[in-house]
Amino acid sequence: MTHQARSSGVVTLTLNPALDMTVRADGWRQNAVNPGQSMQIDAGGKGVNVASVLADWGAESAGSLRITATGLLGADNAEAFEQLFEAKHISDAFVRVPGQTRVGVKIVDHAAQETTDINLPGLSATPPLLAQLSESLDALLTDHDVFVLAGSLPPGMAPDYYAGLVARLRRAGKFVALDTSGPALNAALDAEILPNLVKPNNHELSAALGRSLDTGADLVGAARELLGRGAEIVAVSLGEDGALLLRGGEAVRATPPRVQVVSTVGAGDSMVAGLVSSHLDGLSLPDAARRATSFSVGNITRLGAHLPPRAELDGYAARVEVSAVR
Ligand SMILES: Nc1ncnc2c1ncn2[C@@H]1O[C@H](COP(=O)(O)OP(=O)(O)OP(=O)(O)O)[C@@H](O)[C@H]1O
Ligand SMILES: [Mg+2]
Repeated sequence: MTHQARSSGVVTLTLNPALDMTVRADGWRQNAVNPGQSMQIDAGGKGVNVASVLADWGAESAGSLRITATGLLGADNAEAFEQLFEAKHISDAFVRVPGQTRVGVKIVDHAAQETTDINLPGLSATPPLLAQLSESLDALLTDHDVFVLAGSLPPGMAPDYYAGLVARLRRAGKFVALDTSGPALNAALDAEILPNLVKPNNHELSAALGRSLDTGADLVGAARELLGRGAEIVAVSLGEDGALLLRGGEAVRATPPRVQVVSTVGAGDSMVAGLVSSHLDGLSLPDAARRATSFSVGNITRLGAHLPPRAELDGYAARVEVSAVR
């Protein structure tokens, strides 16, 4: 394919990554000594998840795809991230920050079907770190065409950080995807230059526009508003109900097949990865909807942000229902 004649470079930016530690301790009690059954540590954060899923896709596709992950990473607990990047051939351009990346501890009691979460504080961004990050991004501009900005902003960053970065990247001719929420999303959607691609879920979109979106018509109207402001592709994800995708005058609804859900962590991030790969391959909107949904569905059938083998993924894609929306 002509699109893949030159190797495409994708950067994912994760300013607020997270290390998830899941401890299984069936029947555990507070204020007691409890036996545990297992512990798993997963390197996460939205941009890291997007990179991980894109790497799985790239490993099984004919075209060559180079993936670079950047952002801010705590130097004291970077090992799980480094192992993931190495295993998936993701270039590591993360700026190392003194201290620890935030850790999320999950204590799971399978027997009682209960989960207890303890979220530790993470890194704060300081002006010198942001200057280093800015230099890292400048260096990546030379050989990457697509930038994915994903997840929340750590303490210390202005809510309009993404808005400013989107403008800088788009002025440099880059394709920019943004997946965030709250004030950071508001600022990016109110800016003069919007990202090429945005993928809010229905709750994030409703919060960003400051109105409830109860019907399909409300959602389509809201997504069209973002196109009117300058976005090229808007995907509104709706959890198990699928997603609504709009580009230009076209709108489609993608409904996922029913599958055995193992973990919905990373469902949205996988959809972003699917949309980015669809952009790189120049897919039509219906085909992009099908691919992106198959990435999400494949992801939720396993733990962590990973794709199943290609044959299984193609099976899900064939079962996604895509219909035109007026
Ligand atoms: N229970 C489910 N069954 C089938 N598909 C699902 C389910 N949950 C999510 N999906 C698929 O994943 C896509 C993205 O999910 P969702 O809307 O929950 O993203 P999100 O809220 O951004 O998630 P994230 O927590 O990753 O940010 C959906 O459009 C759908 O295709
Ligand atoms: Mg999301």
